[in-house]
Amino acid sequence: MKKRIAIFASGSGSNAQKIMEHFKYSNEVEVALILSNNPDAYVLQRADNFEIPSHVFDKHDFYQTTEVVDLLKRLDINLVVLAGFLWLIPQSLLQAFPNRIINIHPALLPKHGGKGMYGDRVHQAVLNAGDDEHGITIHFVNENFDEGEVIYQARFKVEPDDTLETIKFNGQQLEHLHYPKVIENLLKKYG
Ligand code: GAR
Repeated sequence: MKKRIAIFASGSGSNAQKIMEHFKYSNEVEVALILSNNPDAYVLQRADNFEIPSHVFDKHDFYQTTEVVDLLKRLDINLVVLAGFLWLIPQSLLQAFPNRIINIHPALLPKHGGKGMYGDRVHQAVLNAGDDEHGITIHFVNENFDEGEVIYQARFKVEPDDTLETIKFNGQQLEHLHYPKVIENLLKKYG
């Protein structure tokens, strides 16, 4: 039986797109479900394009009910993948999928992480700090924002003439290249 992934995303979903593309013809892995807290998220359109089912939930569903956990269990999900998902993961979900929830962050954690650190704010913080390198982190998820054991990091040099747009682009390229492969390797390793 194929290993089954569920992807949580709050926005555009370009990482989700790369993951869906990567596993579209796989005999080992399938993207079984896309979940979002945002009914207007473009990731839902992307899911439709791949004919992958999607599920939208609100704060009450997520934090006060077992609806999302029940759905993931019912679909026999092996790995939960956060790809631009901006809400904290509740204990009930962490407990239901121990070491089976991963996240991608657009910086070299532990630098530039934590609540409110997403999107352009992260890249601006890198420029403000005058960092000479930047990159991405893929990590296991725990009860805090952007913590949990690091699985993989990729880095690049920040040049003096770099701007927010150029470092953001470089980071996105790395995310799109590495996230699907890291997921594939994790599923091979842990099953
Ligand atoms: C990605 O860059 C991801 O690293 C970031 O959100 C973006 C989503 O882009 N996640 C965080 O900042 C989490 N703290 P996408 O919707 O195009 O995949």
